[in-house]
Amino acid sequence: MATSFNTVVISVFFLVTCIFVRFSHSVAPIFTGLPITLNVGENENTNRILYTLTVTDPDGDSFTCSATIDTGSFFQIIRDPETAEWKLLTKSPSFNANTAPSYTITVTCTDLHRQRESFILICACTPTECIYFTSQATVSKNALNTGSGIQIFDVNAVDDSGDVLTYYMTVSPSTVTSFQIDASTGIVTTTRELKYETQSTTTLLIRATDGKIYVTEKLVVTLTNMNTVPTITNLPATKTVSESIAGGTTLFTLSTYDPDSGATKTMAFSLASAASASHFTLDSNGIFKLATGKSLDYETTTFYNVSFTVNDGMATGGPYILLLYVENDNEPCSFDRTMYYASTSEGAAGSASMSPGFIVSDPDAGATWTYHLYNANNSDRFTINSSTGSTMGFAVNYDIDNNVMPSKVILTVLCKDNGGSTGVIKTGSTQITITITDVNDNTPTFSASSYTIYADQYDSPGSVLGSLTVTDIDSGSNALYTCTATSTSANFATYSINSDCSIYLAKTISFDYGTTVTYIAKAVDQGTASLTGTTTVNIVYRLSGTTTVTTTTTTTQYTFFSRAENIAVFSLLLITALALIAVLLYICVQWCCGSRACDWFRPTNRPTSPTKVKPYTPETPVTPAESITSIAYKEENLPPSQPYRSIRYHNGIPALNGWL
Ligand SMILES: *[C@@H]1O[C@H](CO)[C@@H](O)[C@H](O)[C@H]1NC(C)=O
Ligand SMILES: *[C@@H]1O[C@H](CO)[C@@H](O)[C@H](O)[C@H]1NC(C)=O
Repeated sequence: MATSFNTVVISVFFLVTCIFVRFSHSVAPIFTGLPITLNVGENENTNRILYTLTVTDPDGDSFTCSATIDTGSFFQIIRDPETAEWKLLTKSPSFNANTAPSYTITVTCTDLHRQRESFILICACTPTECIYFTSQATVSKNALNTGSGIQIFDVNAVDDSGDVLTYYMTVSPSTVTSFQIDASTGIVTTTRELKYETQSTTTLLIRATDGKIYVTEKLVVTLTNMNTVPTITNLPATKTVSESIAGGTTLFTLSTYDPDSGATKTMAFSLASAASASHFTLDSNGIFKLATGKSLDYETTTFYNVSFTVNDGMATGGPYILLLYVENDNEPCSFDRTMYYASTSEGAAGSASMSPGFIVSDPDAGATWTYHLYNANNSDRFTINSSTGSTMGFAVNYDIDNNVMPSKVILTVLCKDNGGSTGVIKTGSTQITITITDVNDNTPTFSASSYTIYADQYDSPGSVLGSLTVTDIDSGSNALYTCTATSTSANFATYSINSDCSIYLAKTISFDYGTTVTYIAKAVDQGTASLTGTTTVNIVYRLSGTTTVTTTTTTTQYTFFSRAENIAVFSLLLITALALIAVLLYICVQWCCGSRACDWFRPTNRPTSPTKVKPYTPETPVTPAESITSIAYKEENLPPSQPYRSIRYHNGIPALNGWL
């Protein structure tokens, strides 16, 4: 051939025609990364990798590839069992650049649906060019004791023309980083101790080039005595926990496996967010817990994606994913306050006058609840609107008078939910302080419907003749009352019934014994819409029995005359007095009968000496009944006993004169 052909160049042109053949919904495999030109030496060996096809099936169907060569049989298409790639290799070639400078190869890949994609190779060759190196080498290494930087293979290629060679390497799987090749020497070394390598078989595609042709050989590195990557053996894919579990609860205990003796395993976990990760803890025994003080809440987070790893100091097993689902529990309803307050007045059964203003919430979607009174503190005396809780009232006639029922009650109020998703009814509680105020519903009542009070000749203005007893069982101002009195009797101004319901002699009596003065006494309480009790008071003026006085006197005289000297003095005084009287009588008879009628014997019903009782001057002026001013007065605040009142005795029994 012409000198222009002294270099045989086998040029392979890949003309790619993508022919999509569609059957039904399927798409044929597609070639990419083309066209490409490969220069191959005339003296090339058999099984030399010329080209790795990049072909994929968009449907994910598996497919097979084959080649059709226009002349000869020096090429083959083979699927690499390690990498699953389809490769174009030489097959017992006997290239001759003069007689067959080029070849046309049609590669066809067919998927399950019998669809195919084809492309055409055109080869042109130049002679006497080849790069030689050992083909299909396999290297085995002890992973445990192969250090970093150790040579595991020397490509040691030779170029026919003595050209300088350059080396490249691709690694499969590409994740393996334990090997490297020196571009100028072709020496493959380890980049790290192989105990860290977890891939037992690695395919190195080593490429040598002199700048004109490219030769690729496959080197398979297998490792023995590898470190076993530790594993977590018991992690389920999912786990469901109740949102109600307490902080510190163990969620899971990890089991790990590492057959290597002396392996120290360290477990770790991670979550997408640090905030979520802070919810959990994992200790050196593999115990995975909800962190102390943390809680789960379905309404906030329904699941956690937890990733676990285990490391033995050389290799990391995992990640193992656990989807931790949070189960929606029925959570209790709750009140917004721990104590509410309401006030109402005494009321009849069935009346409902309190609006407690309960505010209740429940975290569960669609939750409803009802209101109840916890059975304590006589809660059965009260009612509550069970569906709304908006009103409360009385179940009984509520009466605080006379302390029959308390005026302040603390009740426990419950909300009960509908059971939510679990059907387990949950209860929330609060308390309410109810203050029940008094209603003026009791009339002040006198202890008798009529009274008879006595005044006698010994009473002087200011004397207390008696007191009226009044009862009002209401409380507070409703129980305070004042007395007033009216009278149509003559002489009504002689006596006084005061606001404190005591009866006084107001002025000197100027009428006869046996005279009765009658009053209508009223007790009026201070309630709004005051109530009035009424009684009749008869005050009788009577002569206090002389027997009484005599008895007293006799008793006194007995004591006096029991002494002899007293008798003597008395006799002396008596004689003197009698003499004096006799003289006075004589003078009087002489004077009176001589000039006027001797009428001084005329009888009288007035006591000659009304001063046996010490005259009393009241500390405060006593006002007659008609001008009583209101004085707050309560039963228990009875006025102190009257120190100025001397009790007279009648037959040894205290005279009931005016005292009730
Ligand atoms: C959980 O997280 C992993 C990555 O850590 C992710 O691949 C996976 O899809 C996640 N699973 C879910 C259900 O989110
Ligand atoms: C009953 O009343 C008392 C106070 O009088 C209160 O301390 C207590 O909590 C109440 N009990 C309930 C169950 O509400």
